[in-house]
Amino acid sequence: MAGRDPVNPMWGGRFCQEPDTLIQEMNASISYDQRLYRQDIRGSIVHARMLARQGILSEEDMKAIEQGLLAIEQEIEAGTFPFATELEDIHMNIEARLTDTIGPAAGRLHTARSRNDQVATDLRLWLRDAIDGIVECLEALQVTLVRGAADHAETILPGLTHLQNAQPVTLGHHLLAYVEMLERDKGRLNDTRRRGNMCPLGAAALAGTSFPIDRAFTAGELGFEGPMANSLDAVSDRDFVLEFLAAASIAGVHLSRLAEELVLWSSQQFGFITLPDALATGSSIMPQKRNPDVAELIRGKVGRILGGLVGLLTVIKALPLAYAKDLQEDKEPLFDAADTLRMALIVMTDIMQHITINSEAMRIAAGHGHTTATDLADILVQEHNLAFREAHHIVGELVKEADRRDCSLDTVPPDALEAIHPLLTPAIQRRLTLEASVKSRSSFGGTAPNEVQRQVELWKTRLHIS
Ligand code: ARG
Repeated sequence: MAGRDPVNPMWGGRFCQEPDTLIQEMNASISYDQRLYRQDIRGSIVHARMLARQGILSEEDMKAIEQGLLAIEQEIEAGTFPFATELEDIHMNIEARLTDTIGPAAGRLHTARSRNDQVATDLRLWLRDAIDGIVECLEALQVTLVRGAADHAETILPGLTHLQNAQPVTLGHHLLAYVEMLERDKGRLNDTRRRGNMCPLGAAALAGTSFPIDRAFTAGELGFEGPMANSLDAVSDRDFVLEFLAAASIAGVHLSRLAEELVLWSSQQFGFITLPDALATGSSIMPQKRNPDVAELIRGKVGRILGGLVGLLTVIKALPLAYAKDLQEDKEPLFDAADTLRMALIVMTDIMQHITINSEAMRIAAGHGHTTATDLADILVQEHNLAFREAHHIVGELVKEADRRDCSLDTVPPDALEAIHPLLTPAIQRRLTLEASVKSRSSFGGTAPNEVQRQVELWKTRLHIS
C-alpha cells in the first residue's frame, strides 16, 4: 500500500495491513505498562547520556532528548499525554511523542538498545521502589503489633491446636508471632530486591550490540549493582518478578491467617474482639448483623497474589530463550500483587489499631477445656519426679472425672481427687490458675508475660519504637 502511512511508525516499514482491533488490543500493553513511565524516562535519559559520553550520540542531540523526555514526563503527570493503543506500549508511546516534540534526533535514542532490554530495566527499577514501599507497610504493621503486644503482655486467651483449646497463652505472645513472620517477609523481599538489582540495559534485543557502549556507567547511574553479565539472560528472565510474587504470596498468606483470626475472634462464638464501626458492615437483610467484611477481603484478596505467582510461573515455564511476547504477561500479575499486598497491609494495620480487645471474654474462654492440664502434669514431674508419661496418664484420669462431673480440674472434690492418685491434692489444685500457667512458660520464646515483655523491648529497639 504505497503512499499510506506505515501501520506503526516504529516497525511498520514491512507491514501493509492494519491489525484488526482485537489483535491490536491483545498486543498492546499501554493500558497497564503506562505506570512504568518514570522508570522508562529515567532509563532513556541515562542511556542517552551514556551514548553521548561514548561519542555515539552528539551532545546536542543528547540534550534535546533529555529535555524532550522531561517535558513528556510532565505531560504524563499532568494527564495531558496522548496515550495511543496503536503504539502498543509505554516505550513506543514515549518515543513517538519524543519524535513529535523534538524531531529526528528522537530516532537516535534507540541506538544500541531494544525494547527487550528496556522493558526488563524498567520493570527492575519499578520493582525496587515497590518493594521499598511494601517493606515500609510491613514495618508499620509490625510497629502496631508490637505496641499491642506491649499493652497485652499479660492478657490471657486460649492458645489453640487443631482449633481446640490447648494451653493458655498471652495475647502479646500471639501478636509477636506475627511480628516474627512479617520480619521474615521483609527479609525475603529485601533479598529479592538485592538479587534483582542488576541492569539489563545494553543487552539490546538479545545478543548485545556492536556499539562501544558502557554498560557499567548505565548500571551505576540507574542505581544498579552492575550490568547483567549475559545478554540472553538479561532480556529473557523474569525470576526477579517470580521471586517477588513468591515472597508476596508468603506475606499474603501470613496476612490471611491474621485476617482469619480476626474473623473468628469477632464472631459470637469467640467474642474476643469488637471491630470498629468503620471496619464492619451490616447486612441488607439481617438488621442485627455486623460483618467482618474487611478482614474477609484481606483473606480473600490474597488469592489474587497466589494466582499471579502460579500464572507467571506457567507463562515462563518452557519458554525458550530469549525474549518472547509471552513475557509481556509479567506486568499485570506483578502490579496487581504489589497493589493488593500494599492495600492489605495498610488496611490490616488500620484494623489492628482500632479493634477493641475483650480481655474478659478471652480469659473466660481460656478457662474452658482444661487448658491447665499440662501444667498439672509438669508439676507432678518436676516436684514428684514422676515420668512425664505417667503424669500424663494421671491427669488424663482427672480430666475424665472432671468431664463426668461437668466441672473444671480445680473444682473436682478432694475425695474424687484422692481416688485417682494420692499426689492429687486440693493444694496442687489451687495452683492450676491461668496466670500461673502462662507465668511458668518462661523458656526462651515462651508465652510468659516476662518473656513477652523482654521480646517487646527487643522489637522496640529493632523497629525504633519509642
Ligand atoms: N511491551 C513489551 C513487553 O512488555 C515490550 C517489549 C517488546 N519487545 C518486542 N520484541 N516485541 O514485553
